[in-house]
This record gives sequence, structure tokens and C-alpha cells, in this order.
Amino acid sequence: MKSTVEEIRQRFDADVERFSNLETGQSARADVPLAMGLVAQAAAATTLNARLVLNVGCGAGNFSLKLLERLPNLDVTLIDLSQPLLDRAASRVGPATTGRVTIVQGDIREGEFLAGQFDMVLAAAVLHDLRTDQEWEAVFAAFHRALRPGGSVWIFDLVESSIPAISGVMRQRYGENLTRLKDEA
Ligand SMILES: C[S@@+](CC[C@H](N)C(=O)[O-])C[C@H]1O[C@@H](n2cnc3c(N)ncnc32)[C@H](O)[C@@H]1O
Repeated sequence: MKSTVEEIRQRFDADVERFSNLETGQSARADVPLAMGLVAQAAAATTLNARLVLNVGCGAGNFSLKLLERLPNLDVTLIDLSQPLLDRAASRVGPATTGRVTIVQGDIREGEFLAGQFDMVLAAAVLHDLRTDQEWEAVFAAFHRALRPGGSVWIFDLVESSIPAISGVMRQRYGENLTRLKDEA
């Protein structure tokens, strides 16, 4: 059963510190720092002349910060449900870029972003909260409208395999990692 939007917002409002560590990423998944670094590296390598980036479900800004390590002159638009996380993201991302930082509190399923503007959309560990096919289609249509021609979308997230054995391995590793972290909260 997926959480309601209000439940998601409240959960993340109360969890700013856990999402503000670039070394661990969001920390619930052990593979996040590696995945985030690799995806940011690939995004930078393929879009060297990028200027405008849209980071949806930005949390405290980790994915933008990873990209800015390689492309430090970006204008970054940060969108999230959680105002405390957005405030933290702005205070971390601002000093990391020579460009402008814009924050927008809102739901990516309802947002209309500046059409045809962005070189890249970044989405880290947020799209798994989408529910219906209609929501997936609406969000990707909004990304498409937001991107300039030739722009790109960069995602890493929880992936649910339809193969039970693979799904079992992933869930076991995820559970072990959460157990290891249980005293952190
Ligand atoms: C697991 S955290 C990941 C944060 C960040 N991307 C990272 O990797 O560190 C998910 C983030 O997505 C945000 N979020 C979830 N659903 C959202 C929605 N519908 N619209 C905007 N933000 C959303 C949450 O508030 C939270 O900050």
C-alpha cells in the first residue's frame, strides 16, 4: 500500500538530516552513493553545455550536488513536497553553483514546469511513489514538455523485478541494510 501525499510530506519534513549526507545519499539503500555518482557522471558527460536543470523530488539536493561537482555553472530548479527539505537543499546547492537556484514546493504530479527550458530532469528515489499509470504518464508528459529539444531525463530509483528470485534478493539486501541502520533514526 503506497502512502498518501500528505503522509509522504510529513515523513520527509521530519527527516531532513538523513537526506543531507552526500556520502550516504538517502542511506536506506546501500547502493545509492554509487548509483547517484554514476548517473550524475553519465548525465554530465553527455550534456557538457547544460545550463538549466530541473531536480524533482530533490530532497536535500544530493543529486544536484553530485552533478554540480562536474558541471558547476548550472541554474537549478528544485521541486519537492517538503519545505524543510527544500530549504536545506537551497542552502547546500546555492554555494555549489555559480548559477541561480529556484525552489518550488509542490507535487510533481500536478506541476507544470517552464516549457521547453531544461537541459536535464533529475529524479532520484522519488518516482517509485507514483501510483497509477495515469500518474506515470502525466509526470513523464510534464518532463517532456519541460525539456528543450534533445534534453534528457536521469533517474535512479528502487526497481521492482517481476522475477521473484531477483525481487527476493533485492528485498533481502534492502532489509539487511535497514536493519544495520536501525539505531540511526
Ligand atoms: C527518498 S527521498 C529522495 C530525496 C533525494 N532525491 C535524494 O536522493 O536524496 C524522496 C523525496 O521525494 C519527495 N517527493 C515524494 N513524492 C513527491 C511528489 N509527488 N512531488 C514532489 N516531491 C515528492 C519527498 O518529499 C522526498 O524529499
